[in-house]
Amino acid sequence: MRTKRENFGGRMAVIAAFAGSAIGLGNIWRFPYLVGEYGGAAFVLVYILASIFLALPIFYAESIIGRRSQSNAFGAFRVLAPKGKWHYFGFITVLAPLLILTYYNVVGGWSLQFLFKSLAFGFNGSEDMTGYFGRFISSGWAPLLTHGLFAIVVAVVILGGVKSGIERLTKWTMPLLFVLILGIVVYSVCLPGAKAGVLYLARPEWSGLSWQGVSAAMGQAFFSLSLGMGTILTYASYMNKKDSIFQTGWSTAAADVMFALLAAFAVMPAVFAAGIDPGSGPGLIFESLPYTFQQMSLAIPVISGIVAILFFFSVLMAALTSAISTLEVGVAYLTEETRMSRKKATLLLSGIIWAIGVVWSLSTGPWSDVTVFGVGLFDAVDFFCSNVLMPFGGLLFTIFVGYRMPKPDVYDEFTNGGTLRWSRRLYPAFRFLVRYVAPVGIVLVSLTPYIF
Ligand code: PHE
Repeated sequence: MRTKRENFGGRMAVIAAFAGSAIGLGNIWRFPYLVGEYGGAAFVLVYILASIFLALPIFYAESIIGRRSQSNAFGAFRVLAPKGKWHYFGFITVLAPLLILTYYNVVGGWSLQFLFKSLAFGFNGSEDMTGYFGRFISSGWAPLLTHGLFAIVVAVVILGGVKSGIERLTKWTMPLLFVLILGIVVYSVCLPGAKAGVLYLARPEWSGLSWQGVSAAMGQAFFSLSLGMGTILTYASYMNKKDSIFQTGWSTAAADVMFALLAAFAVMPAVFAAGIDPGSGPGLIFESLPYTFQQMSLAIPVISGIVAILFFFSVLMAALTSAISTLEVGVAYLTEETRMSRKKATLLLSGIIWAIGVVWSLSTGPWSDVTVFGVGLFDAVDFFCSNVLMPFGGLLFTIFVGYRMPKPDVYDEFTNGGTLRWSRRLYPAFRFLVRYVAPVGIVLVSLTPYIF
């Protein structure tokens, strides 16, 4: 029943694919506004520490399960623990990323709309940008269309397969994204009045942090590395035995953290230069930034128009390379565990995911008065995925690797059969983090919103 599995073609391809999954809307949309809400540099510091000591060990645990089993997120547990019931839990980590994709696609659609808008030089001052985002997402049809378009692009990449789809896209988009964001940082910090934004990111404001902020920073590290969702597991299952999990792991985490910092330095100085409140929440890049572009276009029309295009192109690419990693989890499951072809699996899942996404999309507009526990449907599904499903998956992977998998197998994967010197040295630290620190951290992240 098992179809022949494809593999990534070498170290750089693996890092690009992992980084493609990790670097996404989380870095460029979520991170800057969280930094703005929770005290600037103080939040950034906690985020970096959490990425190293909490997120990275979970990343390793997930990769170890994937590569060892050479299987999808459900099948992996049947391969590694044939007598146990672990695969039932594994099934949840197949469904979870698909649920994420139902609303991730919606935001992907927004970024598509903003790219179109910037291509038409729509931020050049002729139209008042205040309230544009709100008008767009509540307009009913238009966001459904862009969301559908985004879903089609995601499906096309996945139809191409591991090598000609995922690898081919991520290999060029990842380096390009870094170049683009660096360029935007230079533009942003050179704006008059940008210095206050740079200082905001450089000087820790501890009073703005709070426990909520610490938990949000840990949760962000988690979300940003795409953990607990079976995406890392699935991508790692396409790794060759000679590639190093240890090296690809820290490289991915470093790229992810670096990109988040660059995104913050791209967004914040511009926001300060335009005199906008940095703590304006999720609307930061879709509301404040267009306003900033509009302001800047008065002084430097062409340049600011081009920067707007490059910025929203970056947002779109970041969103796309993350979205494909979530769809791949479901497609790998269906093609390996049932007789379904890749084409059928992709089309079926994409259709269902788009249809569910319609609900979230409408919930930001015509259905905005429908609430669950006092929050809108869109926020509710985001909360459920980030605060319930992701921690669940993270716990599953760390406990499986920390307590259930035979120790020699874990060691073998982490050190490539003892051949990698640095990973041999750091193995005891990894084992400690994965058994004790990560599970406690995960529980803290998920419980803080209820306690404080
Ligand atoms: N890591 C992605 C981001 O930062 C989001 C994501 C989460 C992607 C879980 C896949 C799985 O935007």
